[in-house]
Amino acid sequence: MSTAGLPVLEPTTHKRPGVIRMGVIGYGYWGPNVVRNVTSLDSCHLVAICDQNPAALKRAGRLYPGARLTVDATELLTAPDIDAIAVVTPVWTHFDLAKAALENGKHVFVEKPFTSTSAQAEQLIELAQKRNLQIMVDHTFLFTGAVRKIRELVEKGALGSLYYFDSTRVNLGLFQHDVSVVWDLAPHDLSIMDHILHQKPEAVVATGAKHVNDLADMAFITVYFPGNLVAHINVNWLSPVKVRTTLIGGSEKMLVWNDIEPDEKIKVYDKGVDITNGQGVYDMLVSYRSGDVWAPRVEQVEALKLEIGYFAECIRKGEAPHNDGLAGLRVVRLLEAADKSLNQKGNVIRL
Ligand SMILES: NC(=O)c1ccc[n+]([C@@H]2O[C@H](COP(=O)([O-])OP(=O)(O)OC[C@H]3O[C@@H](n4cnc5c(N)ncnc54)[C@H](O)[C@@H]3O)[C@@H](O)[C@H]2O)c1
Repeated sequence: MSTAGLPVLEPTTHKRPGVIRMGVIGYGYWGPNVVRNVTSLDSCHLVAICDQNPAALKRAGRLYPGARLTVDATELLTAPDIDAIAVVTPVWTHFDLAKAALENGKHVFVEKPFTSTSAQAEQLIELAQKRNLQIMVDHTFLFTGAVRKIRELVEKGALGSLYYFDSTRVNLGLFQHDVSVVWDLAPHDLSIMDHILHQKPEAVVATGAKHVNDLADMAFITVYFPGNLVAHINVNWLSPVKVRTTLIGGSEKMLVWNDIEPDEKIKVYDKGVDITNGQGVYDMLVSYRSGDVWAPRVEQVEALKLEIGYFAECIRKGEAPHNDGLAGLRVVRLLEAADKSLNQKGNVIRL
């Protein structure tokens, strides 16, 4: 292996039953989190780490002396002792690396956003289906205690019929040089929206602007669903403060999720409006309901650990995860529609 001057470890031949042998490509900002969680799970075994940057590999080597290290992704993609590859590189590299992994018979865990285009996502999904392999797209937030609790509340109808989903994800930076704020931050909100609302969107409208380089650094995305349900997402790299707040309004209850809050991240408000019709046309009576506020218990878990454990379980069982290639594709389609609308100064893009 090309080890950039690091010790050479020979391929392992043994396979422990039920343990998924993993190779991780990309050890930049997010890759170390993926690697750390892979090594924390009994159901996974970290076999190798690849990064084009030898300095990144050196960092990895200090922490994981048992893992093989290489600057050449092909060595992981073709390794006979690797069952699954995690692709933790910039988005424009996802398609080629994931395609090569699938072609070599490996399951793939791909970072968000899944691919740069929906055509690429469709191709990967087809390839995985043909080869009977699993794709998981890292929509990390779906595995947080907060999102799992919100989904549970929505599923059991605790909020009544849903009116809106309104998410704000703003802070100063981190500016990405290859993708806009839409492709960097909005995949989180869009995947959460998709998972919680569980409905097929009809249209997208987006406005935004670029101030610092040639990529949008702020955007307002509106997603329309059947039945007057509407979602709004505000992503911004030029905010002086960090805000991570989602409001979900329903006919029975309203919910606020403040992810910055250490405890009581979710508050459910028994607030709303009740309309009663009087005799005449102008006799509509609006009464405002203001009842109790409740903070449900939110499980404190490391989302990525839960997610990678679920990836290993899905591979073992031969079952598609809920955050599979199709979930990744749904997000990429919304991102493409948002880009198109943004470039047309907010034209409605029908899906
Ligand atoms: N799920 C999350 O919450 C989350 C958070 C941050 C980033 N991400 C995603 O993770 C991915 C990586 O983001 P990042 O911030 O870690 O980027 P980064 O630029 O910090 O790191 C990427 C690393 O990949 C390496 N690399 C690039 N192409 C390679 C190749 N062909 N072979 C081997 N190594 C290669 C680079 O040398 C670099 O070290 C992106 O898709 C990003 O959207 C997800």
